[in-house]
Amino acid sequence: MTEAILLVGGKGTRLRPLTVHTPKPMVPAAGVPFLTHQLARARAAGVDHVVLATSYLAEVFEPYFGDGAALGLRLEYVTEADPLGTGGAIRNVADRLHSAPDDPVLIFNGDILTGLDIPALVDTHRDTGADVSLHLTRVPDPRAFGLVPTDGTGRVTAFLEKPQTPEEIVTDQINAGAYVFRRSVIDTIPAGRPVSVERETFPGLLADGAHLQGMVDSTYWLDLGTPQAFVRGSADLVLGRAPSPAVPGRCGERLVLPAAEVAPDAKLTGGTVIGAGAVVGDGARIAGSTVLDRAVVEPGAVVTDSMIGEGARIGARTVVEGVVIGDGAHVGADNELREGVRVWCGATLPPAAIRFSSDE
Ligand code: GDD
Ligand code: MG
Repeated sequence: MTEAILLVGGKGTRLRPLTVHTPKPMVPAAGVPFLTHQLARARAAGVDHVVLATSYLAEVFEPYFGDGAALGLRLEYVTEADPLGTGGAIRNVADRLHSAPDDPVLIFNGDILTGLDIPALVDTHRDTGADVSLHLTRVPDPRAFGLVPTDGTGRVTAFLEKPQTPEEIVTDQINAGAYVFRRSVIDTIPAGRPVSVERETFPGLLADGAHLQGMVDSTYWLDLGTPQAFVRGSADLVLGRAPSPAVPGRCGERLVLPAAEVAPDAKLTGGTVIGAGAVVGDGARIAGSTVLDRAVVEPGAVVTDSMIGEGARIGARTVVEGVVIGDGAHVGADNELREGVRVWCGATLPPAAIRFSSDE
C-alpha cells in the first residue's frame, strides 16, 4: 500500500471571500468539501495512509474527516504554526511516514481537480528509477505555473516557477501538482524553516544531478485557485466531465442536495449544485453555478457561472454572472453583477444599486 501527503495549508487568497471562513480544500465542490474528491481518488488508487499538512484554518479539517475511516483511509493531521511553504510542509510531516527509504510517497497539491492515472505515475517512477516523478500537463498560458521542460525521455531538464520574462517561457508543460518522491529524498529537505518545493527543492535537486522524471498526461486538469476555476470544476464534477467517486448523486445537469427547495419552474442547468436547505424561487434560472447551503435565490433571478455563499440571498430578478457572493451577503432585487465581482461576506446591496448596462 502507498502513503500520501496532501498540501492543504495555503491561504487561498485568490478565492476570497470564499476562503474567509473556510480553507480552500474545504470549500464545497459538487456538494462535498473539495478535499473529499482528492481523498476518494487517492483511496481508489490504492493509497491507505494520508497525512494532511495544514496551516491556514487548520482546525476545521479533523472535525470533518476524523480518522478517515469513512473514506477507507487512515488520516493524520500535522499543523504548521507558521506556514512552512510547500517543501517545508512536506519535510514537516516526514516523521509520520512509515515507508522505507526507497519506497514511493505520493504528494498532492490540495487544489487540483484531475483525472490523473495515479498508479501510472507510480509505475513511471518505478520503471525509470527516478528520485522524484512529476505529473505534467500542457496549458495555453503557462505563466501562472511551474514550467517543466523535459528531454526526449521525459527526464526533467529545468524547473522554472512562475516565470517573469518571455525568455523563460521555454515550454507549455507545467507542474500539475502531483509528485512521487523517493522517501529518502523527503528527508534531504531542510527542517524547521520555510522551503518552497518549486523554487528551492526541485532546482536544487536538478543542480545536484538528481533524476526528476516528468509524466505528461492530457487528462482533465484544473487548478481550482480562482473563483471562476472553482465554479467550473464543481460543474464539471456534476456533469461527469471530471471523474470522482465522491459526487453525492448521479451525474447530470444538476445536483440538488437533501432538504433544498426548488420551485417547479426554476431551471437548473450546466452542472449547477443546490446546497442543503437552499431555496430557489419561481422562474429562477441557474446555470453552471454553485449555491451553497441555506442560500436563497429569489424568483426570476438569473445566476450564471457563479458561487453563492452559505446563507446568502440573491434578490428577485437580479442577474449575476461570473461572480462570487460571500457567505451571508444579501444582494437586493434588480441588481446586475458581472465578471469577477466579489461581494464580501455579510455585505448588503440595496435593490437596483448596481447595473452593468444603461437600461433600467
Ligand atoms: N501545509 C502547507 N503550508 N501547504 C501550503 C503552503 C504552506 O505553507 N503553501 C501552499 N500550500 C499548499 C496550498 O494549500 C496548495 O494546496 C498547494 O500547496 C499549492 O499552493 P498554491 O498556492 O495553490 O500554488 P499555485 O497554484 O500558485 O502553484 C502550485 O501549483 C501549480 C499547479 O496548480 C505550484 O506547485 C506550481 O508549480 C504548479 O504549476
Ligand atoms: Mg493552486
